[in-house]
Amino acid sequence: IKDPIRIVITGAAGQIAYSLIHQICNGDVFGKDQSVILHLLDITPMMTMLQGLVMEIEDTSLPLVKGVVPTDSEETAFKDVDVALFVGAMPRKEGMERKDLLSANVKIFKSQGTALEKFAKKSVKVLVVGNPANTNCYILAHYAPSIPRESFTCLTRLDHNRAKAQIATRLKVSPDTVKNIMIWGNHSSTQFPDVRSGTVTVNGKETPIYEAVKDDNWIKNEFVSIVQKRGAAVIAARKLSSAMSAAKAICDHMRDWWQGTKDNEWVSMGVISDGSYDIEKGLVFSYPVQIKDNKISIVQGLKLDEWSREMIEKTQKELVEEKNDALKATSSD
Ligand code: NAI
Repeated sequence: IKDPIRIVITGAAGQIAYSLIHQICNGDVFGKDQSVILHLLDITPMMTMLQGLVMEIEDTSLPLVKGVVPTDSEETAFKDVDVALFVGAMPRKEGMERKDLLSANVKIFKSQGTALEKFAKKSVKVLVVGNPANTNCYILAHYAPSIPRESFTCLTRLDHNRAKAQIATRLKVSPDTVKNIMIWGNHSSTQFPDVRSGTVTVNGKETPIYEAVKDDNWIKNEFVSIVQKRGAAVIAARKLSSAMSAAKAICDHMRDWWQGTKDNEWVSMGVISDGSYDIEKGLVFSYPVQIKDNKISIVQGLKLDEWSREMIEKTQKELVEEKNDALKATSSD
């Protein structure tokens, strides 16, 4: 068993964390030989609840867990962490304007970014889940300038998994045979789920998705729209946002980052843009990526038709606006 790594989970008393913690403690993400110390951050009113969660973690009796630190202090939470999962955020309340939501979150991510900069290991790997995930990640990175830009990511793997599932359901095949699809842009309803380079195994043969589906209209309209609106559909039915599937996606994202992606396969991650595909440099944008030796690389050279470019442009435009509003909110703070 390897020496423990320290993992902070923010929003630890929330519903995603509740589904996530067991998978981390069980070795599903960082490996069956990797012990862990969990730092669980939430706001002060949630501390009693967090105590209950700590009891439950103890009661799992899992051998990889070498310690649990429940806290409402950012210093304690981020001290010496190797991995930081930012799940907590200010939820949208009824009647709240998008701008109010953004400025509430800017406050949180400014404060947590500053603490990350001060207290975390410089090698920390960061995943932002709390919404608006891309822009929260942008603000976090802005306030943690000494941590390498490649270490900041946001979650679009849930969207990626949703897209995979839709294709698999339509073709009545197993989702693991759906490969090299991707999500571009914002984790929002402007995201672009793209299957142009994707393949699927039908009757034992790897086939381009467009060829297998045989209905471009369905892909361009229904499929894209279902994936874009899937989060809202889950909320409408469950009266709560996706949690089990979000936790699973977080595990997929971190496991691939830690252990690498398969050869010739890629996954979707929100990363700080280096300008690839003419996206504004510095924007936190979801791209197809490959990972080797813990290094994330954006897949290069994919062909984009005019429609795809328009879709990408639309989601970029929304992200630029969000980023500008967020930066404005930091200066009025
Ligand atoms: P939840 O409301 O059940 O839990 C959020 C927790 O964060 C609460 O315990 C709350 O007290 C805590 N929190 C709030 N402010 C905090 C702060 N400043 N520091 C530490 N903790 C704080 O929410 P749930 O369902 O667990 O979702 C968490 C976030 O993930 C939401 O913002 C949600 O929109 C987002 N989400 C993102 C997805 C993605 O694919 N990127 C998918 C699903 C959800």
